[in-house]
Amino acid sequence: MALSLAKRITEYKLAKELFVRGKEIIISREVQEMKKYTQHGRTTVFEHCVAVAKYSLLIAYYLERVLSISIDKDSLVRGALLHDYFLYDWHIKGHAQGLHGFTHPSVAMRNAVRDFDLNRIEKDVIVKHMFPLTPFPPRYLESYIVSVADKWCATAETFKIDISSYLISRINYSIEIANIDSSICPVVLFAES
Ligand SMILES: [Fe+2]
Ligand SMILES: [Fe+2]
Repeated sequence: MALSLAKRITEYKLAKELFVRGKEIIISREVQEMKKYTQHGRTTVFEHCVAVAKYSLLIAYYLERVLSISIDKDSLVRGALLHDYFLYDWHIKGHAQGLHGFTHPSVAMRNAVRDFDLNRIEKDVIVKHMFPLTPFPPRYLESYIVSVADKWCATAETFKIDISSYLISRINYSIEIANIDSSICPVVLFAES
């Protein structure tokens, strides 16, 4: 379905902000491994994480502009991008350690701290994103936001509703360019494309 111009511009701006805030994670070769695994429906784990980061940002804009609540958007995006960084196919029996729904936040956390330097908000986002399925409630507002965005994206992806394909194509384009020349500034990338 063709996107309206206004929607396309919004997605373009969101992709730009998401790429700038999450660049270290988005372009990492290890994170690209998430493209190998399916999450819900036809959506890969990488696409799912990017979509969750996008909706987390949208919720953050709303809370900041309408309710004047301050959000740490860098930690929000980085945590969202890594919230399902478990790196296995959970559809195949035996790949998950225990019940995937309960154990994958801990696996994602283990992988994330191995590969990135994370702050306490980013760690909380990853390990608490399945609340209330997992019993410990989030400590930070950023974690609640990602948890809500995650549930919305999971539902839409399961029913094959297109919620982010244009934004994801923009992100993938930026990754390709960054791989060609990692010195190119992401802002310039978006301005030139
Ligand atoms: Fe998850
Ligand atoms: Fe998720």
